[in-house]
Amino acid sequence: MADAGTPHKPLGLLAELTHRCPLGCAYCSNPLALEPRNDELDASIWGRVFTEAAALGVLHVHLSGGEPGARRDLVDITAHAREAGLYTNLITSGVGVTSRTMRDLWEAGLDHVQVSIQDSDAVSSDHIAGYRGAFQRKHALAAEAVRLGLPLTVNLVVHRANIGRIGEMVDLALKLKASRIEIAHVQYYGWALKNRAALMPTAEQVTRAVADVEELRDKHRGRIVIDAVVPDYHARFPKPCVGGWGRRSINVTPSGRVLPCHAAESIPGMEFWSIADHSLPDIWANSPAFNAFRGTGFLPAPCADCERREIDLGGCRCQAFLLTGDARATDPVCHLSPHHALVTGLAAVQDDAPYAYRRI
Ligand code: SF4
Ligand code: FES
Repeated sequence: MADAGTPHKPLGLLAELTHRCPLGCAYCSNPLALEPRNDELDASIWGRVFTEAAALGVLHVHLSGGEPGARRDLVDITAHAREAGLYTNLITSGVGVTSRTMRDLWEAGLDHVQVSIQDSDAVSSDHIAGYRGAFQRKHALAAEAVRLGLPLTVNLVVHRANIGRIGEMVDLALKLKASRIEIAHVQYYGWALKNRAALMPTAEQVTRAVADVEELRDKHRGRIVIDAVVPDYHARFPKPCVGGWGRRSINVTPSGRVLPCHAAESIPGMEFWSIADHSLPDIWANSPAFNAFRGTGFLPAPCADCERREIDLGGCRCQAFLLTGDARATDPVCHLSPHHALVTGLAAVQDDAPYAYRRI
């Protein structure tokens, strides 16, 4: 039963250890309804999840949140992941993980650290994060990770307030001795939808940013890896979201609900199984949510006859639902979608309203 109808094996596990977070970023893509601390899985159950994930073929686990440093048992959880044989990547805001904890994590076998930095300018960075002093603390934690010999990636979420400073952000990442920078434009899911117009860059800004990234790659080749994607709302084709629904990745929420992607709960009527009731291999193979949009057979026109169908898989199911009300529809980011005008219309809307910060 375990492998019925699932030719694909997952490679990555996103472990949302908690939804708690000290920052209040306006672009947070976590769901509107956060899971409470009392419902969080304990370290031993995470250990079972990691063991089952490894048996299923998962190679790496992203220890994320919220802010994973809010978990007092983060070191134990990390040790369980290493015991399971997974490559462990900590995704942190840099606030909530002390230097001492970073050393303990390193001793527990942590393999890699990703620190989010909101801007190259300290005042702007703290403003975007809604947390005074966060910028300095991020620097300190990044420095400690490098001092311990851990590979460092700097995550930059791009939007209208910082899109003009990508070059300065790459300089900052170099100064921090990061080996990689991940430039991700805001994804408008969860909380970020509330701030869409306040975050939305103009078409001119996006065009300039795409050119900037190409120039920066040439300039810094061999010194730092720059990964970046064109923002959805200004693209001609959609992204193959999460590598395809139920194909490459698994997301486990703080309470143990297992999702095909981090925004899947935004699609109403889906049935998500919990690791409290089922094993991970059982959920991967048999849960209604994972089987809802597997493959491409469900895609309507224009995807049904399109030669890119196996390349982008019709785009993102969550975005299709959020913009059209139909999760099976062609992602309206695609310029061939009958709903594409929705996206171009929204991409043209900018306002300078104050951010709605996420407060827990
Ligand atoms: Fe991709 Fe569908 Fe657009 Fe073709 S029509 S490019 S398969 S989203
Ligand atoms: Fe859910 Fe893209 S975010 S499929």
